[in-house]
Amino acid sequence: MTVGAGEPIPAASPVIGDAEIEAAVRVLRGGRVVQGPEVAAFEDEFAGLVAGRYCVAVSSGTAALHLALLALGVGPGDEVIVPSFTFAATANAVRLVGATPVFADIEADSFCLDPDAAAAAVGPRTAAIMPVHLYGHPAAVDRLVPLAERHGLAVVEDAAQAHAAALHGIPAGALGTAGCFSFYPTKNMHALEGGMVTTADAGTARTLRLLRNQGMEQRYANEIVGVNARMTDVAAAVGREQLKRLADWTERRRANAAFLDAKITGAVPPPVAAGARHVYHQYTVRVRGRDGARRHLDERRVGSAVYYPAPVHRLAPFLRDGRPDPRWDLPETDRAAAEVLSLPVHPALTGEELIRVADAVNEAGGVP
Ligand SMILES: Cc1ncc(COP(=O)(O)O)c(C=O)c1O
Repeated sequence: MTVGAGEPIPAASPVIGDAEIEAAVRVLRGGRVVQGPEVAAFEDEFAGLVAGRYCVAVSSGTAALHLALLALGVGPGDEVIVPSFTFAATANAVRLVGATPVFADIEADSFCLDPDAAAAAVGPRTAAIMPVHLYGHPAAVDRLVPLAERHGLAVVEDAAQAHAAALHGIPAGALGTAGCFSFYPTKNMHALEGGMVTTADAGTARTLRLLRNQGMEQRYANEIVGVNARMTDVAAAVGREQLKRLADWTERRRANAAFLDAKITGAVPPPVAAGARHVYHQYTVRVRGRDGARRHLDERRVGSAVYYPAPVHRLAPFLRDGRPDPRWDLPETDRAAAEVLSLPVHPALTGEELIRVADAVNEAGGVP
């Protein structure tokens, strides 16, 4: 039993405060509740985060990925190169459009898609590369874009975890052909649920607007087959409130991460690639003896989480004859899945809580 463990420190702390509640009530009293003025304003304001790209709001990050692939014409017979060390939504979107995910390994340092592995995975059927800015660290899109250009491929950024991240000064969501954000409550900013697709191409943006609304821009003048992936105005109003505070929250996450970097000795802190602006959706260390370390953190009432204990190529929908496809030999992915541990880094942490987080890891951890 640990004496004086203190109040629990949650792994994440989504904000639904007075500003969000008042914004939601304002919309509900106003009567325009789906894809109305709040959604249009949210899209305009979000463009400020992605170098002025077109922004198309949708119902979730998964819908953003799904519709981005559809809008870019990716479909049956195509292959899409994805990391396996990600949330299943990335590869699910590929399968939902009838294409085949081709899993490539990650870089040990950034936990993101390895451009050399992606290059080795390009084949005659490859249509797109989908890097994931995992934990808020931008993937090496600066190396993936030239690769994609050589082969005529699209680059769809999974920026679900990377609001306000950047690479060499270019924001996530403005690095590839399209960018896909999530506004799930635990993300760096949220809209209760929601997503955003960003693109520099006006035609792609228009196709996305059609796809999210049954293929219609004008009511009953259906142009293509689409889905219902509309965002509600309640969600957009909440998202707009969160967007106002994103810059402040991001600086706090980065300051919290810098504090932990300096204090943590019982694990390997997350490295940051040259030119990368990491926004620490997660502060993810590598630790030896993860199960024991987590038990100790639990005793110390320090929240932690493992993203992701099973690489996607080992999940049931992606198996072949009940086992991982022998084509996927992903040693860095498997090593990361066995070693990673995400610690609290959210903006609500106090200095005293940060010290407790670092102390708990240093008492329990070990450097792999
Ligand atoms: C890397 C990644 N991709 C996609 C998604 C899907 O986003 P959503 O949950 O909003 O559908 C998430 C979020 O959960 C994610 O973390």
